[in-house]
Amino acid sequence: MNVGLVGCGTIAGQYLRTIDRLPELTLAAAADLDPARAGETVRSRPGARALSVDDLVTDPGVDVVLNLTVPAAHAEVAHKAVDAGKDVYCEKPLTATTAEARELLAAADAAGVRVGCAPDTVLGTATQTARKALDDGLIGRPVAATATMVTPGHERWHHHPDFYYAPGGGPLMDMGPYYLTSLVTLLGPVATVVGAASRPRAERTIGTGPRRGETVPVDVDTHVTGVLVHRSGALSTLVTTFEGVATTSPHLELHGDEGSLVLPDPNHFAGDVRLQRLDDEDWRTLPVSAGYEPAGRGDGLADFALTPPGVEPRASGRLAYHVLDVMESLLASAHSGQAVSLDSTCDRPRPVTFVPGADRTGPRG
Ligand SMILES: NC(=O)c1ccc[n+]([C@@H]2O[C@H](COP(=O)([O-])OP(=O)(O)OC[C@H]3O[C@@H](n4cnc5c(N)ncnc54)[C@H](O)[C@@H]3O)[C@@H](O)[C@H]2O)c1
Repeated sequence: MNVGLVGCGTIAGQYLRTIDRLPELTLAAAADLDPARAGETVRSRPGARALSVDDLVTDPGVDVVLNLTVPAAHAEVAHKAVDAGKDVYCEKPLTATTAEARELLAAADAAGVRVGCAPDTVLGTATQTARKALDDGLIGRPVAATATMVTPGHERWHHHPDFYYAPGGGPLMDMGPYYLTSLVTLLGPVATVVGAASRPRAERTIGTGPRRGETVPVDVDTHVTGVLVHRSGALSTLVTTFEGVATTSPHLELHGDEGSLVLPDPNHFAGDVRLQRLDDEDWRTLPVSAGYEPAGRGDGLADFALTPPGVEPRASGRLAYHVLDVMESLLASAHSGQAVSLDSTCDRPRPVTFVPGADRTGPRG
């Protein structure tokens, strides 16, 4: 698959490492609002060209458009790809709003092209080993989960953190997709949410880079909590915040009537998954039993690109739309004080079987 990358910023480097690692993906072209960034991206890649966005999406040498622009630009760039008849895979969140996402998915269906979306961390060994444990009945009937994301804010390390504090940003829209995509992968889609949120500071000060000391306005809630009622009846309790220094709470815990699971940071692909069953005296680490390994950002793109026609890709636009709906509904609930029932739903994505040392070219099962 020949990849046309749009948005050559901070996260692009991680994708390029994966594209370089996987024989099934080749960088064909790159584009950015800043042409110098596109030029730099293709500099050491013979055959890859720096193009304008419009030229990239219509280029016959591009099979799939990889949209790594900022969230506010996701819809515009994705529509250009769809209008040009190209599959498109976006960074998260899929778009800034569910209204934009609905339009995009409808346009893609009408054009007969597919939309995929990050995060693909859930395809790694951590979430997939937990998924297998769950599906194998190791915790019995799943009843509840807790998900906790605490950070003081990305302006401490990101040179241009403005988008994290603009609509489409905030701790929920930025980090929520990792936690919520894991929760949907594990416990299935969500029916109803109840949210609460706060916005204690009006501005943030950039802590690093050329704009260090500059302030950015805060136009989003920076502490967002809520409860998700899954269609299965399981309840997930979520905390996402840019207002905490650190936490000792696990990133993700799952509880069933026969056992509990602790998962590592869902922003990463791998890590220990621990289980304690009713009669166990302590936690034990589960052997890796499912998921892509090694894996990095972009494995979801490979999975998407190589999913046969008629089969829903694992990192699908429909899953991302449902996750976006959960997030938007949590914020709506926080502001209205009412529970919100979701219109969207999705299937639990297909699990990833573990094939140690497998030849990973060709369609992925
Ligand atoms: N930075 C991270 O650690 C990280 C991690 C995971 C996911 N993401 C996601 O990746 C995406 C990009 O984040 P980033 O940190 O790389 O941002 P960034 O600001 O560093 O880079 C974005 C790039 O997109 C370009 N761009 C913006 N609008 C464009 C448009 N309309 N057409 C062409 N180019 C455009 C910008 O010029 C910039 O080079 C976001 O959706 C973010 O949520 C970021």
